[in-house]
Amino acid sequence: MTALTLSTAAVAGLRADAIVVGVAKGAKGPVLAPGAEAVNKAYDGGLADVLETLGASGGEGEVTKLPAPARFKAPVVLAVGLGAAPEKGADTAYTEEVLRRAAGSAARALGGAKKAAFALPLTDAAAAGAVSEGVLLGGYVFDVYKADTGNGRNAKGPLGEAVLLGVKPRDKAYRAALERATTVSEELNRARDLINTPPNDLDPEAFAAVATAAAKEHGVKVQVLDEKALTKGGYGGLLGVAAGSAAEPRLVKLAYTSSKAKKSLAFVGKGITYDSGGISLKPAGHNETMKCDMSGAAAVFAAVIVAARLGLEVNVTGWLALAENMPSGSATRPGDVLRMYSGKTVEVLNTDAEGRLVLADAIARASEEKPDAIVDVATLTGAMMVALGNRTYGITANDDAFRTSVYEIAEEVGEPAWPMPLPEHLMKGMESSTADIANVGERMGSGLLAGLFLREFVGEGITWAHLDIAGPAFNEQAPFGYTPKGGTGTAVRTLVRLAERTADGDLG
Ligand code: BES
Ligand code: MN
Ligand code: ZN
Repeated sequence: MTALTLSTAAVAGLRADAIVVGVAKGAKGPVLAPGAEAVNKAYDGGLADVLETLGASGGEGEVTKLPAPARFKAPVVLAVGLGAAPEKGADTAYTEEVLRRAAGSAARALGGAKKAAFALPLTDAAAAGAVSEGVLLGGYVFDVYKADTGNGRNAKGPLGEAVLLGVKPRDKAYRAALERATTVSEELNRARDLINTPPNDLDPEAFAAVATAAAKEHGVKVQVLDEKALTKGGYGGLLGVAAGSAAEPRLVKLAYTSSKAKKSLAFVGKGITYDSGGISLKPAGHNETMKCDMSGAAAVFAAVIVAARLGLEVNVTGWLALAENMPSGSATRPGDVLRMYSGKTVEVLNTDAEGRLVLADAIARASEEKPDAIVDVATLTGAMMVALGNRTYGITANDDAFRTSVYEIAEEVGEPAWPMPLPEHLMKGMESSTADIANVGERMGSGLLAGLFLREFVGEGITWAHLDIAGPAFNEQAPFGYTPKGGTGTAVRTLVRLAERTADGDLG
């Protein structure tokens, strides 16, 4: 990952591959963002005009490279677009998310470079934290499976070093912001690695091994239930989904505890390492990216490790519900009835609605420990993608105030999300003539229905929210801002901020 440093050095003398400045879209053409003053001076105050001549507008994510002034040690100035300029008089009001995205676009464009200096508006430590996250997340590359070029890895790795200009290297608040950003980004990028790892190399056992090693490294208690233990414990959901696969399921419990904690959170992640649909097989065109179906578990894993590394004063338990959904002679059939961990029976009418089955067991198990709140994260339904598109996740909950809090936190960290309802009348469609409930119901509103199904397994009186990240978990399109192609790590930052808020006593 890119190394981050702070510096108050004069820009002209900096030895770097590029100097990054921000340019926004003004009413009459591109305008420079604060932080670029010294660079602009070296262009005799005409940098915005030069950029306009080159066709730059300041639009979000736009990258324009131009030769640096002759007396600069760095050869290139890279202007990154910030989008619409803030209203007049408020020229420092670039939001954290605007800075995070711009830093991400710049870092991606600088892939393979050794060092770049960022002359962006770092008006406070939070802004520096956002730029740091943007650089570290935007520079992410997944090249483990690419041909080795001799340097151990593929040629164009991430930017080597990012120098944030205009801040004293010893400033405590800024240093803390950089440190937090580094911790969050390291774990978020590890979650992306897990999501991007092909399913022939990441089965439930392999995922559990990665989680176990990380937990041990960071003082998190870990417990792994294998098939034998799951059978003994009566985890019919996890076992039923894994029945068709040659790979065994796992339930991983990661427990981070703080001696100063007043509250406890449980995070539950869907960890289907590959979702073929099972006997209700997905058609070609729908299964090529289904290695991403463990993105919820990857996010939960990352969030617990971050909580531990930051030493948050809250107890956080992560539950990774890991299984592979495959068709075979031993697979669960549409029509089979599973006895779940909670004791409820479920008639499986569609084996492709498998996420709710593994989650139901994990949510019921998590409920036994009576946490103050449960948040589950899952690539659960195509319907949520249809409703919200592929950049926004849906939030449902059994508590409106908690749903609002989660939504506000998601907004704040730059993870687009939207609150969705749980219409009671949809319960009717899940009535089963044989079992307590069926795993599917009417097609209309099936993203909401999945939430209603999960709600049945939440312990009495426990606040719960469900994040359906099927849309934003995996980016099949071109990279944008700090979001790469492939696994995105969506929901990690929401969970981390939720844990921080809970630790601070800001939430119920
Ligand atoms: N993993 C899928 C949902 C999904 C789809 C995630 C696309 C990411 C991208 C989930 O297990 C699934 O198959 N859901 C079904 C449920 C249906 C059978 C009720 C769906 O949404 O079609
Ligand atoms: Mn499925
Ligand atoms: Zn699935």
